[in-house]
Amino acid sequence: MSKIAICGGKSLNGEVDIQGSKNAALPILAATAMNENECELSNCPDLEDVKAALKIISYLGGRSEYGGHTALVNAAGIHKFEIPEELMGSMRSSVLFLGPLLSKFGQAVISYPGGCSIGLRPIDLHLKAFKTLGVSVEEIGGRIYCKVNKIQPNRVNLIFPSVGATENIMLLTAVSEGETVVVNAAREPEIVDLQNFLNSMGAKISGAGTETIRIIGVEKLNKVKYNIMSDRIFAATCLCAVASCGGNVVLQNVNPEHIGLITSMLSGAGCNISCGSDYVRIRSTQRLRGLGKIMTSPYPGFPTDAQALFMSALAAADGTTVFVENIFESRYKHVPELIKMGADIIVDGRLAAVTGCNYIQGASVEAQDLRGGAALIIAGLSAIGDTVVSGVRHIDRGYERIEDTFASLGASIRRI
Ligand code: UD1
Repeated sequence: MSKIAICGGKSLNGEVDIQGSKNAALPILAATAMNENECELSNCPDLEDVKAALKIISYLGGRSEYGGHTALVNAAGIHKFEIPEELMGSMRSSVLFLGPLLSKFGQAVISYPGGCSIGLRPIDLHLKAFKTLGVSVEEIGGRIYCKVNKIQPNRVNLIFPSVGATENIMLLTAVSEGETVVVNAAREPEIVDLQNFLNSMGAKISGAGTETIRIIGVEKLNKVKYNIMSDRIFAATCLCAVASCGGNVVLQNVNPEHIGLITSMLSGAGCNISCGSDYVRIRSTQRLRGLGKIMTSPYPGFPTDAQALFMSALAAADGTTVFVENIFESRYKHVPELIKMGADIIVDGRLAAVTGCNYIQGASVEAQDLRGGAALIIAGLSAIGDTVVSGVRHIDRGYERIEDTFASLGASIRRI
């Protein structure tokens, strides 16, 4: 099992190319499963979760090649509609194959998906929406059997703007007859990227990025070449690392609009940030200031995926920050590890109060989930002394060799 060793306290300087978005790539890869023609995806990040998605495609009977950040998928040979438990458990996004398989075969069998253990993460909203669209759902022995003769276009009201449920509805109905409307849809930029991808294959979807998405079903999808959007959470990770270590870094290949709230909050904490059309520069020269209160909420609110990153960056800030985690129930697993590093954090249910300590000190810590793991890397980079982070497999699910990114900016960090 690899670990990441960091000798902290170095400022970060230089340029980083932001990787393609994991959370955009995964629904897009699921979408390729219902196209009979070849799909070429560029800017596709080299991640464990991407490998897991390609493994599901090949298990189902499709072909794929991956190299140089490009995935080529030919799903014409897909002939199975059941995903075994082991592949379902490899990541949460395995559930996004449900829509495409139902669309292609009129039936699909899955089990509950795996992924980070950051809360209950049920799929009831996906299944309830599917029932509204005419899908029958039966659960036997932990397996979920879904069937549909013909998708019934309808108005689907989501009681919560779930990212995955919104994507699955788009995937189920892109090829169908009639118009489906999703009300209270998630508005994340990755939903817009999925719409753009589906439309570039010939789908007729509009409204992604707003609360109402309209899907006019089409008969079939065409061959496509598509460039996946850049990863706003990877960008947030780099920004938080520079904010807390100090330095001067330019992030290239980033959409500043997607991280507007993140950059304005880091400016509020004392960083100097400027943006161009596809880059963001951050300069951090002073001790950060606490931010008072940070509440996670669906986009365009503060992303739950950036909660741990900000907590780490603000652990040695001047003053207090209170976090309110509104999206997932168990997303403070990094806290005991940050406390080991000298942070002063009190958790009470969904609240975590962080009082800035004088400095973070190196320690042996363990990543329990993806973003919590990245937060420990940030803490190690800014700490006094040596840090060893274990549980690196969680971090590899969403970051391409995170140690290379920070080593290229001058950090003393390596995989052992
Ligand atoms: C996606 C992101 C994840 C991010 C999250 C919230 C991907 C691959 N993952 O996850 O990084 O943290 O959005 O921005 O894109 N819920 C239900 N029932 C459901 C579905 C969701 O109760 O059927 C709950 C979840 O348990 C959670 C909340 O709704 O508490 C948000 O979930 P959702 O928006 O669906 O997140 P994911 O798509 O799983």
